[in-house]
Amino acid sequence: MLQSLIKVAIIVLSFKFVWMEMLSKCIGHRNVCTPRFKNESTNLTQKEFSEGNNLECCYNIMVRDLKIHFIQKGLFSKFVKLENLSLHNLPLEGEAIKNSLGKGLKLSYLSLENVGLNNTLFESLLPFLPKTLTLLDLKNNSLTYFSTNFISNTTVKTLDLSQNQNITMMLDKQALSLTHLDLSHSNFEWKTSQESKPVCKIPNLLVLNFAGNRLNLSTFDNRNDENCFWYLKSLNLSLSDLTEPIINESFSFFPNLTSLYLDGISNIEQFPSFQHTERLTKLSLNDVKCFVNPTLKNINIFKNLHKLRRLEMQNWELHLWDETELTVLFSPMIKTLEHLDLKSTGLSTIPLVIKEMDELTKLILTSNNISSWNSISENTNKNLTILFMEWNLIETVDPHSIPKRVVEFPLEGNPFLCTCELMPYKNWVKERKLSKIIKDWASKYQCSKPHQWEGKTLDMFRPKITDCQEFNAYVITAIVLCFLMVIIVIATNIYSRRRKQNILKKFQYTHDSSEKRKLLSSS
Ligand SMILES: *[C@@H]1O[C@H](CO)[C@@H](O)[C@H](O)[C@H]1NC(C)=O
Ligand SMILES: *[C@@H]1O[C@H](CO)[C@@H](O)[C@H](O)[C@H]1NC(C)=O
Ligand SMILES: *[C@@H]1O[C@H](CO)[C@@H](O)[C@H](O)[C@H]1NC(C)=O
Ligand SMILES: *[C@@H]1O[C@H](CO)[C@@H](O)[C@H](O)[C@H]1NC(C)=O
Ligand SMILES: *[C@@H]1O[C@H](CO)[C@@H](O)[C@H](O)[C@H]1NC(C)=O
Ligand SMILES: *[C@@H]1O[C@H](CO)[C@@H](O)[C@H](O)[C@H]1NC(C)=O
Ligand SMILES: *[C@@H]1O[C@H](CO)[C@@H](O)[C@H](O)[C@H]1NC(C)=O
Ligand SMILES: *[C@@H]1O[C@H](CO)[C@@H](O)[C@H](O)[C@H]1NC(C)=O
Ligand SMILES: *[C@@H]1O[C@H](CO)[C@@H](O)[C@H](O)[C@H]1NC(C)=O
Ligand SMILES: *[C@@H]1O[C@H](CO)[C@@H](O)[C@H](O)[C@H]1NC(C)=O
Ligand SMILES: *[C@@H]1O[C@H](CO)[C@@H](O)[C@H](O)[C@H]1NC(C)=O
Ligand SMILES: *[C@@H]1O[C@H](CO)[C@@H](O)[C@H](O)[C@H]1NC(C)=O
Repeated sequence: MLQSLIKVAIIVLSFKFVWMEMLSKCIGHRNVCTPRFKNESTNLTQKEFSEGNNLECCYNIMVRDLKIHFIQKGLFSKFVKLENLSLHNLPLEGEAIKNSLGKGLKLSYLSLENVGLNNTLFESLLPFLPKTLTLLDLKNNSLTYFSTNFISNTTVKTLDLSQNQNITMMLDKQALSLTHLDLSHSNFEWKTSQESKPVCKIPNLLVLNFAGNRLNLSTFDNRNDENCFWYLKSLNLSLSDLTEPIINESFSFFPNLTSLYLDGISNIEQFPSFQHTERLTKLSLNDVKCFVNPTLKNINIFKNLHKLRRLEMQNWELHLWDETELTVLFSPMIKTLEHLDLKSTGLSTIPLVIKEMDELTKLILTSNNISSWNSISENTNKNLTILFMEWNLIETVDPHSIPKRVVEFPLEGNPFLCTCELMPYKNWVKERKLSKIIKDWASKYQCSKPHQWEGKTLDMFRPKITDCQEFNAYVITAIVLCFLMVIIVIATNIYSRRRKQNILKKFQYTHDSSEKRKLLSSS
């Protein structure tokens, strides 16, 4: 019994020892191994990695921005711990990459961006693709064709084929693990295999990036059996050139959609009603130039967005809208909005409706014409922690007009009026120890008025107490009063002590003399 216990203890201890040794050996190496080159252009071999790296501890390899003639055959399979491999921006000569992977790799991330892959080269790598792969990034190469067959034997969840010009995406074999697909800026063509009974080959797709392409929205905004988009959660159509305009009934066939990005789209005839997209929580409408004026129709465009948590509207011309119109526009999402981006919208004050947004945590008002506001204050927007107001026309800030929990409040690029009135703001920042702002005062914040401080940084603006009159008068009165109090307290103290001592002395004297008298009379 005791013997077996000791055995167990020994085993546990030795395990711990081995484990500790492994840990200490690889400590600090767990990050990224990069090759060291003396020359800019070279052959990539194991030797280049041995300087400064413990090869057994390379979990991540990153090689970027180099000219490479040749990669040692099977190089990457020599790193036994390798999990992530990224080769970025390498104008590889000829077939340099062809035999580089080697057998037995256990990668989970493989990223080959802008390394001059064409289909011949990529297909020569296919037999070496590890089955454990979860991310395959082939961005900015020259692939003309990609088949789901290529990854049907792997566990690839994320596939990035963006910026491969004129690529054909062929859906022939099922790729059940695929959840994220990026085909942005590729002018892609989508092809499904000709089968008698069409089915979707990537049924688990959740996130789709089609940004920057020429598209016919109705070819995937519909309900048919080979439609793989029915369960999409996120769709990016930013900068797309739509062959048919968006209308009120667009986006009717994405019942699970939560995020939609429509930045820079110009072909919007009617604002979508979002009647069948109840779950939408994120909507990005930056640079959408279609609903500029506050017409009766336009002020109700968000009427069905009762669940929206994040809204981006950069570069809208909201200065054309009055307070009432803005209130109607934003009212459907008052109770839910957490993140609102109104950068460069020409606003000259913070819309009143914003103070009703109790869930708001981040508000971006960068690059507007705001000089002051009476909407939000220390008693509104209890959840607001980030308030961006750089590049406005703010001269001075009343700390009472800042919601209580704000901890990020950059104001660079504002024309500060450096007078005593600015001191409460400086004190507010210092009391909260907002070190980022204090640091930026020295470089990014400038006084633009009055003349004597013009061009000086906010850090340099440290007026003497005597410069700030009001402040001075109060302080002097307070100091004088304090001083008087102290004197009075001391004086009364001394006086009462003296009195006590006198009484004591008198008492002692009378006491002593009566004793003496007693003694005298007895003797
Ligand atoms: C660097 O390049 C020069 C000439 O281009 C060559 O003479 C030298 O041997 C190279 N050094 C190394 C370490 O490869
Ligand atoms: C790189 O490899 C090629 C062929 O494998 C060889 O001819 C060349 O000399 C090598 N260059 C360097 C700098 O080692
Ligand atoms: C691999 O890269 C991903 C994404 O950058 C990262 O989350 C993961 O921790 C990396 N793996 C290792 C072993 O460092
Ligand atoms: C792919 O690139 C390699 C190396 O640059 C080249 O030899 C081959 O002909 C290319 N294949 C195609 C189909 O362009
Ligand atoms: C894509 O590759 C080209 C050259 O092939 C390069 O000029 C460009 O900067 C790359 N784009 C990105 C976003 O990396
Ligand atoms: C996937 O596996 C099947 C058999 O399991 C095999 O026939 C096929 O060639 C493999 N495909 C790829 C691309 O490796
Ligand atoms: C892609 O196709 C368009 C025509 O659709 C053509 O003008 C363009 O040159 C092609 N780009 C590449 C890189 O092949
Ligand atoms: C959507 O696509 C645009 C354009 O390519 C890109 O800038 C943006 O980061 C994408 N957004 C998301 C969330 O993928
Ligand atoms: C877009 O697709 C729809 C349905 O597939 C089709 O009826 C319509 O003609 C297409 N529009 C264009 C401009 O190709
Ligand atoms: C769609 O969303 C509902 C509710 O979140 C969920 O139960 C369902 O599984 C989702 N469908 C898919 C295919 O993700
Ligand atoms: C879309 O607009 C048309 C008229 O322009 C209208 O008849 C239809 O009811 C609207 N649909 C929705 C969902 O609002
Ligand atoms: C806002 O604050 C309330 C109460 O402090 C909290 O319950 C709620 O979760 C907060 N909302 C967000 C979005 O942080």
